[in-house]
Amino acid sequence: MATHRLLLIPGDGIGPEVMAEVKKVVAFFNERGPDRFESEEALVGGCCYDAHGVAVTDETVAKAKAADAVIFGSVGGPKWDGVPFDVRPEAGLLRLRKDLSLFANIRPAVCYPALAESSSLKREVVEGLDIVILRELTGGVYFGEPKTITDLGNGQKRAVDTQVYDTYEIERIARVGFELAKKRRNKLTSMEKRNVMKTGVLWHEVVNQVHEREFKDVKLEHVLADAGGMQLVRWPKQFDVIVCDNLFGDMLSDIAAMLTGSLGMLPSASLGEVDAKSKKRRALYEPVHGSAPDIAGKGAANPIAMIASFAMALRYSFALLDEADLIDQAIAAALAKGLRTADIKSEGTTVVGTAQMGDAIVAEMRTLASVQ
Ligand code: IPM
Ligand code: MG
Repeated sequence: MATHRLLLIPGDGIGPEVMAEVKKVVAFFNERGPDRFESEEALVGGCCYDAHGVAVTDETVAKAKAADAVIFGSVGGPKWDGVPFDVRPEAGLLRLRKDLSLFANIRPAVCYPALAESSSLKREVVEGLDIVILRELTGGVYFGEPKTITDLGNGQKRAVDTQVYDTYEIERIARVGFELAKKRRNKLTSMEKRNVMKTGVLWHEVVNQVHEREFKDVKLEHVLADAGGMQLVRWPKQFDVIVCDNLFGDMLSDIAAMLTGSLGMLPSASLGEVDAKSKKRRALYEPVHGSAPDIAGKGAANPIAMIASFAMALRYSFALLDEADLIDQAIAAALAKGLRTADIKSEGTTVVGTAQMGDAIVAEMRTLASVQ
């Protein structure tokens, strides 16, 4: 029986509330097996700033590196709007991604049958949707230097962000994209802006080279990122895996979230390179939604993206595929019974709070596990 070490980072806003529901799922598996989980907790984000004056401590980064998987809630909120840029809550998450080299961010957008009505799009557009946004996570304009605001001395300031990509960064994310597509419907769509950006030109060229060299059997298409955004809401089912840079991935995955009914539904996995010796890879799992300060503390947040993120940890870090499926099926079953958090409510459904939704999912897991 394997024991896995989890580092739980609830963060700010609704983070702690949705993390509480993951703890119930972890407790379920600790009772039932086959594997055991040991969890430790750490502060990252505004809560860490309040306690230590930084968004993440070196000690927490070291713990995250040593853990078998990091399970992350959310960071940020209006309380920290005025703090210096380099210690803002989001800086803690960005440092974790960078220091752990979590370059591949997998964001699956799956529309559960029961939720086809909750999307702002028509049922036929989203019903049965199952696509993946693969976002490059450690490069591009979020990290490029220089990143400055300079006083020009004439009453004007100049702000600079730098979008930068090296060949190897595009190659490795493209490879993850092709590998993912091979296990799915064998189609990869690469989105960039090669019509205006040099990074787009290189991105396009390198993705083509990787395709030509290593993945000729996968269907590859290129779509300009702005048109891609439009196609995502027009007919999202045309896609299988979409690969894009850090900024476009951030935006397109929020769009994709709405296809599934709510931002509260989208999980994500951020993965590093597989270590040649240990065969392990560093990984952080987090919901795509943010800290939702407007509903924080009210017990109203949707815990599904957070719980589904833990299912991704079971799948990608621990190869517990049946257990991951069990969680996904339990989520579908709870939804099929008409239970909804406020963000996904529709006519004729029962609105429940965060804890009730978590309890209902664990109850479905028990039922499903007992008949397996
Ligand atoms: C996301 C979030 C983060 C990002 C924030 C919280 C820094 O929007 O994970 O999509 O911009 O990457
Ligand atoms: Mg985002």
